[in-house]
Amino acid sequence: MTRAEIVKKLVHIEERSIRPQGKAFAPANIALCKYWGKRDKELNLPITSSLSVSLGALGTETVLSLTEEQDIITLNGQRVDGAGSFARRLTEFLDLFRLPGRFFQVETINTIPTGAGLASSASGFAALVCALRELLQLNIDSKSLSILARLGSGSACRSLYNGFVEWRAGELTDGMDSYAEPLPDSWPEMRLGVVMLTEKEKPHSSRDAMNRTTETSLLYKQWPGKVEKDLLALKTAIREKDFALLGKTAESNALAMHATMLDAWPPVLYWLPETIAIFKHVWELREQNVEVYFTIDAGPNVKLLFLQSEIKRIEKVFKNVYIIAPFG
Ligand code: DP6
Repeated sequence: MTRAEIVKKLVHIEERSIRPQGKAFAPANIALCKYWGKRDKELNLPITSSLSVSLGALGTETVLSLTEEQDIITLNGQRVDGAGSFARRLTEFLDLFRLPGRFFQVETINTIPTGAGLASSASGFAALVCALRELLQLNIDSKSLSILARLGSGSACRSLYNGFVEWRAGELTDGMDSYAEPLPDSWPEMRLGVVMLTEKEKPHSSRDAMNRTTETSLLYKQWPGKVEKDLLALKTAIREKDFALLGKTAESNALAMHATMLDAWPPVLYWLPETIAIFKHVWELREQNVEVYFTIDAGPNVKLLFLQSEIKRIEKVFKNVYIIAPFG
């Protein structure tokens, strides 16, 4: 099944309903239990469910309008080269919603400080589908919106909500049961600290690394079982406000994901020597009874997980940490 067929199933676009502008914001999100591996690459259907926390006011704001000759894309006020991979990915996605002879002007602003290593396709595609809904006056519910965001980038389906969000993998081949939903719980004391090591572009995209892992890693066979266990533990931790359980589960889940990448062929290693040094600092701090854990995505930068009460001790050890309060 193609992305175009899914879009056709979900939305009906009519010239007469188009408004002058669509404007939307979506938060970035960090997975505590990762999405790693697809059962359908065209539709970004995952092999397992995943669970994330959104980053509140940090994300992407998108203003969308129609224009005459070609798509015009700006990122933080700068025109983006139409032939580059960022613009091509957006244009191909917009093709799914295009009326004959019409083009889109996309103004995208990231509210995440540049270099925080968090600007991702997730908040970008989530904001884009919300802006499309407004511009084209699409009559769709939040479940369908989450499915549309997933077609842009898997993790984008979680960026439609604040707080803790679960993306259920689903089973159907058309993916109509694969969308994200928010969990009711909040955790105002929770903090996320980004330790930036490099702003350099990563050598492998997460998309390529994920596909290579599922295609070549034997260890990956263990991953679905691990996720099932971790999801249950995370939901218990969130419900019972058991921070040690949350931190331990998220850290172990991230390390297991990286283990499957190391087992891929050719192997994928995102870590720098400094990445490992941070892991060790975290483990040393825990020996001193500081409740801090980490998670790490497809890149070298580490995200610390801790509670508000530990901020001073964290800042003392990690001088350049950028601290986020996901629940405001
Ligand atoms: C490691 O959502 O970027 O961040 O669906 O191919 O666009 P595509 O992949 P993407 O992968 C995110 C991978 C991850 C884990 C996660 O966010 O769950």
